[in-house]
Amino acid sequence: MAVWNLGSINVDNVYRVPHLPAPGETLGASDFSQGLGGKGANMSVAIARAAARVAHIGAVGVDGKWTVERLMEYGVDTRWIEVLKDTATGHANIAVADDGENQIVLFSGSNKAITDEMIGGALAEASPGDTFLTQNETNGQRVAAEMAKRLGLKVVYAAAPFDSIAVQQVLDFVDLLVLNEVEAEQLEENLDKPLAALGVDDIVVTLGAKGCRWLNAAGQETHVPAVSVTPVDTTGAGDTFTGYLVAGLDRGMPMRQALGLATQAGALMVTRLGTADVIPDLKEIEDAKLG
Ligand code: RIB
Repeated sequence: MAVWNLGSINVDNVYRVPHLPAPGETLGASDFSQGLGGKGANMSVAIARAAARVAHIGAVGVDGKWTVERLMEYGVDTRWIEVLKDTATGHANIAVADDGENQIVLFSGSNKAITDEMIGGALAEASPGDTFLTQNETNGQRVAAEMAKRLGLKVVYAAAPFDSIAVQQVLDFVDLLVLNEVEAEQLEENLDKPLAALGVDDIVVTLGAKGCRWLNAAGQETHVPAVSVTPVDTTGAGDTFTGYLVAGLDRGMPMRQALGLATQAGALMVTRLGTADVIPDLKEIEDAKLG
């Protein structure tokens, strides 16, 4: 089995600050680093670190060739990432405060220049039973989800960054939806129906320090408790959780077990500063003996 991930690739500029900047405030950073990021790339790296096969579908500019090389070094199949001449690679300016909270300014760049042909060319190589994953930082989500469903792939949508319209555009094709508590409430409000009535087989709602809850097609709800850690940087923790969850399921784990592994991976990630470059592998999770 394999995971086909249509997702963003960003250059993450990470600034360590005493507190998140207020409107109009000029704030000095005590530290700066640049690395690989983007919700899509973070998920692909997490999937590779969780020992599943992952092919990334995306685009960068010429300035971002190094991001593709890094994804390859991390074990991601990069054959379906195009280097486009006329757009710049997406980037994110991320302020991380001393309490671990963050603030992100995002420039989409080439993440929004992915063509249907690029998506079709990649998915033509997929096999029924593979998994298709996407998030909300690229264009082409609906086309890709529809195509993947038609080809017999399991479709997973991580609704981040949250946009109710974007969720509605793919909902008909989604088998597993991952979103956080606030987003779940917003979606229920906008659609005027409870999550259980969305017609999606599995829905995972992340609850931050309270863990997550899983609603299945039979209407049963399971709570998975969180693992307690001292947060350093929450950036990318949700992506790590989703990547590990998808990898676990693709490798044949039952949902409850995959959620447990994803919870541990997300918790360990919260103790690290940075994004794709610091996503833990299976051995590090085992050694950390969390919860
Ligand atoms: O979820 C974290 C990610 O959001 C960062 O890596 C940044 O690139 C933005 O996409």
